[in-house]
Amino acid sequence: VVIVGAGQAGFQAAASLRMEAYDAPITLIGEEPSLPYQRPPLSKGFLEGKQNVGNVELRPDAYYRDHKIDLISGSEVIRINRANRSVELRSGQRFPYETLILAIGSRVRKLSVKGAELDEVCYLRTLDDAIRIRQRLETARDIVVVGGGFIGLEVAAVARSMGKSVAVVEAQSRLMPRAVAPVISDFYQELHLGHGVQIHLATVVREIAAGQVFLSDGSAHKADLVIVGIGVLPNVELAQDGGLTVADGIVVDEYLRTEDSNIYAIGDCAQHPNPFAGQSTRIESVQNAVDQARCVAANIAGRGEPYRAVPWFWTDQFDIKLQMVGLSGGSVHLVTRGNPTSRKFSVFYFKEDRLAAIDSINRPGDHLVGRKLLAAGTALTPDQAADERLDLKSLQQQA
Ligand code: APR
Repeated sequence: VVIVGAGQAGFQAAASLRMEAYDAPITLIGEEPSLPYQRPPLSKGFLEGKQNVGNVELRPDAYYRDHKIDLISGSEVIRINRANRSVELRSGQRFPYETLILAIGSRVRKLSVKGAELDEVCYLRTLDDAIRIRQRLETARDIVVVGGGFIGLEVAAVARSMGKSVAVVEAQSRLMPRAVAPVISDFYQELHLGHGVQIHLATVVREIAAGQVFLSDGSAHKADLVIVGIGVLPNVELAQDGGLTVADGIVVDEYLRTEDSNIYAIGDCAQHPNPFAGQSTRIESVQNAVDQARCVAANIAGRGEPYRAVPWFWTDQFDIKLQMVGLSGGSVHLVTRGNPTSRKFSVFYFKEDRLAAIDSINRPGDHLVGRKLLAAGTALTPDQAADERLDLKSLQQQA
């Protein structure tokens, strides 16, 4: 097996194949020079200096030797040759495969305004990006964060906790609009404002000039550091050049196989049929990367199973943990359990009266029960969700 991409998905595919007792050669090829690492801490503990490189590495060096995983770091695959089943590195080196797993992830969307190429403008995706931002945070005083999504808000919380002046610029009319309901956006707006973060909604950056950022609402902010988190784009070019079908991501079937039965795609780059979305979709999360890797490893080991893991996700901002389970997009009926003013509540999302997702703020119990209810397809009515006297675990046990 050759795995292209040594992020969370690629690493997990190699590890899971060995756990499946797959004993043929495994080559794991990654573009970045480092050992495979976790990305979530990069916008949280790592940025604050609470974690270092060794803490974010998924496994130490010895793991790859001990498990006979041939890790090739700092190498870019530039071509898939499907006719002779091999991949080619930029160096010209070729690796033959029997099965190829594309775990090539996504890359940051770039800001395209005047001044975006200036040195003080940073993106956060890789370990190198995080090291660079961490260094700059040592001396920076005024920070403008572009994008009020997960990355932008996590970074804003860290920077504000370090005493920096922080302004967040979000193009849409509320925070985290892609992923959560307005009630959660409003809660996070209050949270950040309460900590002294300035927020500009329905606003974009017009221009960045030395030391200043000019916004579409007419305001200007002093900035010695600009951190941009305006979403990611799936890496699909390698697959596309190899003649594979690409839409929003590399198109795969329920077994995560492309139309070439020797090639799978997993993680951020894969557009897959997802039972929780009710359609083909692409999911950017650690859970999806890990579970798709496990699914492919099981398939390669001969236990063919379709992918149907329950999607979940989390974000930490200040002292608040938001845990999300299910896919809330397209939900029409929302029910709040608990009270937002108590800083402990959950939003239940229903589609055609079926539970679709739960977002929980400081209510890990709701999240954990939610994972089980969604996995089992247990019926829950909006009235039951709103009724705090009803123990949700009892529904799970009945089921
Ligand atoms: N100016 C301001 N805001 C913008 C602009 C712009 N030009 N373009 C987009 N945005 C906003 C979007 O409206 C969105 O709210 O940027 C935000 C990006 O948020 P996400 O889509 O959550 O992406 P990001 O925060 O960059 O996270 C990237 O990391 O944590 C993971 O799962 C997360 O895969 C995601 C990735």
